Amino acid sequence: MFENLEAIAPDPILGVLAAFLADDNPQKIDLGVGVYRDEAGDTPILECVRKAERVLLDTQTTKTYLGPAGVAGFNSAMSERLFGADSEALNSGRVRTIQTPGGTGALRLAADLIRAARPDSTVWASDPTWANHLALFPAAGLNMQAYPYFDAARSRLRFDDMLELLSQREPGDTVLFHACCHNPCGVSPSPEQWVQVADICADRGVLPLVDIAYMGFERGIEDDTLIIRLLAERCPEMIVASSCSKNFAMYRERVGAVSILSQSAAKTEDVVSVLNSLSRKNYSMPPAHGPAVIDIILHSDELSSLWEQEVAGMRERINGLRSDLAQRTRDAGLQRDFSFLEEQTGMFSFLGLSGEQVDRLADEFSIYTVRSSRINLASFNASNLDYFVDALGQVL
Ligand code: LMR
Repeated sequence: MFENLEAIAPDPILGVLAAFLADDNPQKIDLGVGVYRDEAGDTPILECVRKAERVLLDTQTTKTYLGPAGVAGFNSAMSERLFGADSEALNSGRVRTIQTPGGTGALRLAADLIRAARPDSTVWASDPTWANHLALFPAAGLNMQAYPYFDAARSRLRFDDMLELLSQREPGDTVLFHACCHNPCGVSPSPEQWVQVADICADRGVLPLVDIAYMGFERGIEDDTLIIRLLAERCPEMIVASSCSKNFAMYRERVGAVSILSQSAAKTEDVVSVLNSLSRKNYSMPPAHGPAVIDIILHSDELSSLWEQEVAGMRERINGLRSDLAQRTRDAGLQRDFSFLEEQTGMFSFLGLSGEQVDRLADEFSIYTVRSSRINLASFNASNLDYFVDALGQVL
């Protein structure tokens, strides 16, 4: 049977990591996969996670099965962080969160749910969007279309075009948003623009699907949930797919969640039963270690305030690197203006290079990034910025 299978090209993002790992140049830089790195180039375990893991080790009494919804304390804490502990949506029982294997698992479960509810729903995603969105929704049997989002020539949001297209959507359409730190372009709507987006979603009766993988990396942990809260106040139904890979630096533990908002507490229970059935048929139940750790953190005043400080530290370091890189490109007299890097947020921005220029960075300088020229700014540090700016100048 396997003779019917052809080899598939490596994933556009994970393939970059494999090429980087295979390179033995000591000056190599990995600007590909979205992983936070500190000044030493490491991705450390957060202090709040270390402390909570010690507590878990001392207090956990069993590793028996949990069930498809995963760790209950994690789920309720995520509902509160995403929708607001005092929100009407939460207090009316219309919101429920269930744990998933990572943010990708959350998106896939959301896609399976949409397909079960409305097989002909089209998922409208920003142009551009995360490469894996483009693979994941069709893999679940859903159609995808793009709405205008990023003006590559000017490195800014095509807000009017986006609104116009969203205002033509119909009930039955799903519209996917990046809540913050847009991946790959680093450009988000302003708070005022998000209000307009939420109003249009309510007006058109679409199903909003919010992907929040970088909560805390744009403006702050609570501020980055703005679009979720605006939509929850206006729309009867929505789905949120969240990831804790970046903001708890628990990448390999695969911690994510799907949250559902529906018209009534009873309907939300029905939807959760469908989610539980879908996950049972897929991976049965999600891994417990990461969410158990986060449950401890988010239910401890001391550990959650340590977490908030550590997230702020990561956010500020990335913002500092954005300014530093933009300044060094000016100091080096590069002909292209990279000031936009300072206005964008999160780990990613586009450099605006051609595929050939990206290939030259890899082949001649061992600098690896996604072929769209998306870079992960968190990979820079004082000792590799000048090397990078010099290489960039040469390929330009
Ligand atoms: C990225 O975009 O690099 C991250 O979200 C990691 C991944 O799985 O692609």
